[in-house]
Amino acid sequence: MAWPITDEQRMIQLMVREFTRKEIEPVAAENDRQGRFPAGILEKMAELGLMGMMVPAQYGGAEVGAVSYSLALQEIASACASTAVIMSVTNLSCEPLLQYGSEEQKSHWLPPLASGEGLGAFALTEPEAGSDPGSLRTLAVKAGDSYRINGSKVFITNGAHAITFVLVARTSQEGGKKALSAFLMPRTTPGLEIGPEEEKMGLHASSTVPLTLEECSVSLEQRLGQEGDGFKIAMTALDGGRIGIASQATGIGQACLDESVRYSKERKQFGRFLASNQAIAWMIADMATELEAARLLTLQAAYQKELKQSFTREASIAKLYASEMANRAAYSALQIHGGYGYTRHYKVERLYRDARVTTLYEGTSEVQRIVVSREELRG
Ligand code: CAA
Repeated sequence: MAWPITDEQRMIQLMVREFTRKEIEPVAAENDRQGRFPAGILEKMAELGLMGMMVPAQYGGAEVGAVSYSLALQEIASACASTAVIMSVTNLSCEPLLQYGSEEQKSHWLPPLASGEGLGAFALTEPEAGSDPGSLRTLAVKAGDSYRINGSKVFITNGAHAITFVLVARTSQEGGKKALSAFLMPRTTPGLEIGPEEEKMGLHASSTVPLTLEECSVSLEQRLGQEGDGFKIAMTALDGGRIGIASQATGIGQACLDESVRYSKERKQFGRFLASNQAIAWMIADMATELEAARLLTLQAAYQKELKQSFTREASIAKLYASEMANRAAYSALQIHGGYGYTRHYKVERLYRDARVTTLYEGTSEVQRIVVSREELRG
């Protein structure tokens, strides 16, 4: 790849590639089969500084920037998309704190997440509020110097393992999305109930649960920003999160290409290797071309974030393209593997299932098109 990454970024990429080959690749298929959360791997990733890569060193983070973060996440995702989403959502839950937290809040809440002592989760989605989070109903009612929160959340990644939840709730019944506020909630909050794991199509080694909040009390100091800032806080966090999912999808696409190249040079039919058929070679050419485009779009969005320029449009373009690319790549990879690809003996079966969610979470492809078209048509 010719994109001008620095020596430090290249070093991080190679270090994570080596770690991934040694620690993640050998166990990823079995973790998927067993639905086993990769706790031991996450501990090692924390030691390498992978859980708070964009968090300043003063709060315990690695402070290596969004480009290195994206490169690292791509490597992890190429072996295990479940591990990648766990890392991505923990980094995502640091973002609102970094951008809207007071000094006291940053010093208190960031170090355990950034050092990987525990995971973060982002509690926005509700049963009736998915693509339209402005309509969420969880209610936080102020009572003296605290809020009482009641409601429910669904599809919360890391939910069963997180130590900290960034939660968005309504602080007034009036005002629509302008009446949302964000809160920091420890897992130990009385009244916070973690529901059973969703039985998902893919990402079997990751955790996705519903939450119920019954009379959860949080202090005023646990509110992020001002009352009414919740929607903007969520959108800002998702801008960063979408770089994470674009990186995850790019990693999945890379794995689809790698598996296809390997298999098509090993497998013979009609007396010759699959790769010597133009139909197969062209599938590989298309996969490589689209993968390269996805990687460049993703790194461009990450670079723009690093420059502290607006990157809403770039993150949505990257997420849209990379996630749809990953699904096309997974389709082609499985096609190249034929009937064997449809069995659990080959990695492409897992890649196919894991790719599917990337066009859904952190904003569907349709939501990304809303974001991009609004940016284009503005003015
Ligand atoms: N940054 C800062 N502010 C933003 C913003 C951004 N990216 N996007 C919007 N805003 C602001 C707007 O400027 C506007 O402010 P004003 O009222 O002051 O002008 C306000 O927010 C409202 O904006 P919109 O009117 O554009 O909002 P909308 O209701 O039309 O929604 C949307 C726009 C893009 C569709 C948005 O609702 C959206 O992103 N939906 C998808 C939600 C999503 O991605 N959910 C994922 C859940 S988390 C997850 O999946 C994590 C996981 O577990 C893996």
